[in-house]
Amino acid sequence: MKPLTRRQAIALGATGAAATAAGAAGLLWSARIGSPGGPDDDVPGARDAWTASPSVSSSDGVLEVRLEAAAARRSIGGRDADVRAYNGTVPGPTLRLRPGDRLRVRLANGLDDPTNLHTHGLHASPAGNGDNPFLEVPPGATFDYEIDLPPDHPSGTFWYHPHHHGMVADQLWAGLYGAIVVEDTDPVPATRERVLLVSDLTLDTAGHLHTVTMPERMMGRMGATVLVGGRTFPRLDAAPGDRELWRLVNACPTRFLRLDLEGATARLIARDGHRLASPRDAGDLVLAPGNPADLLVSVGDGTATLRSLAYDRGDMGAMMGRGAGRGGTMDAEPTEPLDLLRIVPSAGTDAADVPAPANPTPANPAPRDLRDRPVAARRDVVFAMMGRGMGPGGMSPTINGRSYDADRTDITVEAGTVEEWRIVNTSPLHHPFHLHVWPMQVVHDGTAVVDAPDWRDVVVVPANGEATVLVAFDGIAGRTVFHCHILDHEDLGMMGVIEVR
Ligand code: C2O
Ligand code: CU
Ligand code: CU
Repeated sequence: MKPLTRRQAIALGATGAAATAAGAAGLLWSARIGSPGGPDDDVPGARDAWTASPSVSSSDGVLEVRLEAAAARRSIGGRDADVRAYNGTVPGPTLRLRPGDRLRVRLANGLDDPTNLHTHGLHASPAGNGDNPFLEVPPGATFDYEIDLPPDHPSGTFWYHPHHHGMVADQLWAGLYGAIVVEDTDPVPATRERVLLVSDLTLDTAGHLHTVTMPERMMGRMGATVLVGGRTFPRLDAAPGDRELWRLVNACPTRFLRLDLEGATARLIARDGHRLASPRDAGDLVLAPGNPADLLVSVGDGTATLRSLAYDRGDMGAMMGRGAGRGGTMDAEPTEPLDLLRIVPSAGTDAADVPAPANPTPANPAPRDLRDRPVAARRDVVFAMMGRGMGPGGMSPTINGRSYDADRTDITVEAGTVEEWRIVNTSPLHHPFHLHVWPMQVVHDGTAVVDAPDWRDVVVVPANGEATVLVAFDGIAGRTVFHCHILDHEDLGMMGVIEVR
C-alpha cells in the first residue's frame, strides 16, 4: 500500500464527478441557499425566522433527559423531507449543564440501524456507560448513559452526535445532532444567546436523503442544502445595539466553514469550548467539521449577513468540484459564498452604520499553557489515503498505515503525562484531526508556530502538511478513539484507538 498519488486523486475525482452528474439528472432537489423569499416577505432571501431548539437544563447537579433517535418528517427549505431526529426536532434539544454536573441520558433507538451517543469535546470518562464510542445500542433498545463533568470542566459550547462506526456520517447528516452548553460561571454580558448549529444534507425531489456513493464518501460528502438551526438561511430578529452571544458549531460531515459577517461586528471569544486569552476580531474564521466557536456579535441598524466563503480543502476536492459543476448534488468545493443567516434589526435600514465591536473581558483564569510541562513522549500520527490500484475501490483512508479496528489499541499513554503529537498528512485533502476526551493545544498549525495558547478538539491537518499539538492526559484515564472528523473518512476506517492508563 502506498499513499494516493496525484494521478489517482484525479482518477477518483473523475469517477466522483461522473457519479454525481448521473445523480443530478433530474433526481435531486437542491434548496439553493439565498433563494428569494416568499411574496409576503420584505427581506429577500431570509424567509423563516430562526427558532431555538428546545433546551433542557440541569438542576441540583443533574440533567436527566430522554433522547429518542427516530425517523421524522420536517419541513426543510419549504418542502417536506424525511430525516432523522432526536425527539422530533432538528437540531435535537440543547443540553445545558454546569461544571461538576452529571448528565444522564436515556437513549432510545427508534432507528432501523444501531446507534450510540458521543458528547463531542467534553472532558468526561469514556468508560462503561460514559462517553463510550465502542457501545452499540441496537434498534428498538434503550441505553442509560451517565456522563460526569469534572468540577473544573471548561465552560463553553460542545455538541453531541451518534458515533456508531460505519454510520456516523449517515446518521449525523440525517439530522441527529444537538448542542451541549456548559454554562459559564462568569457569563459574557449579552442581550441574548443563540445556539447556531450549521449542518448540510442532500435530498432528492421526493424529500428523501440522497444515497451517498463510494466516490462521494472518499471525498467526504458535501450536502447541497446548508442549514442553520435546521433551516435554510434563517432570519434573526434583533434590535440595533443588541449584543448577541452566538454559539456556533460546524455539524457538517465534511464542509469547512470560512465565516464572513457583513453589516455587523463580531469578536471571537472562544473556540472548541475554551475561552481565548484575549478576544479578537472574528474575521476569516475557519471552522473545520466538528469545531464550535463562540462569537459576541454587535447588531447595527441595518441588515447583516453571515456567509461561508469559498474554501479549498485540497486537490481531490478541486478535481471533484470542477467535474461536478455548481448546482450538482455535491458542491464539493464551493467557489461562491453561501448565505448562512441574516440579522434583520427591527426598524432597520439597508444603508446603515456598522457598530463598534464589543470588547468582552479576557478569559479568567488565563488558559493553560502546556509548553511549561515536560514532554513524556513524542509521536507521529500519519493520515493517508492508501491506494492499492486505480480508482476508489482500491483505496482506504488510514492512520499510521492501518484502518480502524476496535479490538486493537494503537496508542498507549501513561496517565498524567504530556505528549507531543506531530500529525502528518500525506494526502491531497485536508483532514480535521479529532481526539476524544483530552483537548489539544496547537503549537504549530502547519504554517507557523502558534504562540498564544490555542485549545482545540478538532485540528486541521493541511493537505500534504502537518500540525503539532501538545496533549495533557490528565484527570481522566480510559480507552477511546481519535479520528478524522470528515465523518465519511472515519466511517471508512480513518480512526484509531488510544488507551490512557
Ligand atoms: Cu464529533 Cu468522535 O466525534
Ligand atoms: Cu468527539
Ligand atoms: Cu479525512
